[in-house]
Amino acid sequence: MRVLLTGADGQLGRCFQDRLPVGWVIRETDAKTLDITDCLAVFAEVDSFKPDLIVNAAAYTAVDKAESESEIAALVNIVGPRNLANAALNSNAKFVHISTDYVFDGNAVIPYKETDVTNPLGVYGQTKLDGELSVLAVNNSAIVIRTAWVFSEYGNNFVKTMLRLGIGRTSLGVVTDQRGCPTYAGDIAKAILLLVQKEDVKGGIYHYCGDKEVSWFEFAEAIFKQAKMDGYSGSPEVKGITTVEYPTPAARPKYSVLNCQKIKKYSEIKESDWQTALATICNKLI
Ligand SMILES: NC(=O)c1ccc[n+]([C@@H]2O[C@H](COP(=O)([O-])OP(=O)(O)OC[C@H]3O[C@@H](n4cnc5c(N)ncnc54)[C@H](OP(=O)(O)O)[C@@H]3O)[C@@H](O)[C@H]2O)c1
Repeated sequence: MRVLLTGADGQLGRCFQDRLPVGWVIRETDAKTLDITDCLAVFAEVDSFKPDLIVNAAAYTAVDKAESESEIAALVNIVGPRNLANAALNSNAKFVHISTDYVFDGNAVIPYKETDVTNPLGVYGQTKLDGELSVLAVNNSAIVIRTAWVFSEYGNNFVKTMLRLGIGRTSLGVVTDQRGCPTYAGDIAKAILLLVQKEDVKGGIYHYCGDKEVSWFEFAEAIFKQAKMDGYSGSPEVKGITTVEYPTPAARPKYSVLNCQKIKKYSEIKESDWQTALATICNKLI
């Protein structure tokens, strides 16, 4: 299997490379080596490497900054994925693209299914939704995986932010009224690898996230509990605050738990066991 990976330096990109099956050949690219918004460059890369599979781990992921950078967010999250979807179709390669729980408005009370109505609250969510639509419009065999609250040992994420802020602070305010499922990027990578090796997987949208729903506050508590067991020197008191007390440029869904039944039916994929993943990677981060 020849895999063209974009966004290779991001959280998912790095975790995907770590889990590449033996014997697979990978061409890992990042913003500097393959700008996915450059259509000619994308087609040239695919023409020369001739992948069997293209995995798009590249994205504009700065949720708040996107509110003031909507053009670049749209280029990376809509035009880039469409270029890759077209190039994959043209060269008969499988294509996997990643999207987000932020395509939903968070007014649900039960986990979101793939077929539920979308209604993004901000520019990032809107560009990711438009990205899904443009990918599937040009390539209906593309696999689009919506995931949520991604963390890993790489890049920027909530776990790293908490551990950084926890040093030298006596207390930290963390939001209690937004609920979702943390997802370990390594588990997303494993799910992608399982899915693409199945012959009977149809193109379309699949939800994939962690197996236990929490608030950001509860996630922070779990992080500090684990870090303490691993010898972390910080010991901030984690205080629950509301979204209103922590205003951000982009609104976030209050509830963004994803129903993962569809992806679980198609293969032996299990939801991300994020607590085990946290226990495994935490000592590398403190
Ligand atoms: N992080 C989350 O909590 C979360 C939640 C739900 C869904 N997702 C989705 O999951 C996927 C993976 O997220 P992640 O957390 O691994 O993202 P990430 O760590 O931010 O990595 C994204 C990568 O894309 C690269 N990139 C940006 N613009 C590019 C361009 N024009 N051409 C090529 N590469 C470009 C970035 O490079 P630079 O750093 O050099 O810009 C970065 O290495 C994304 O589709 C994201 O939307 C993430």
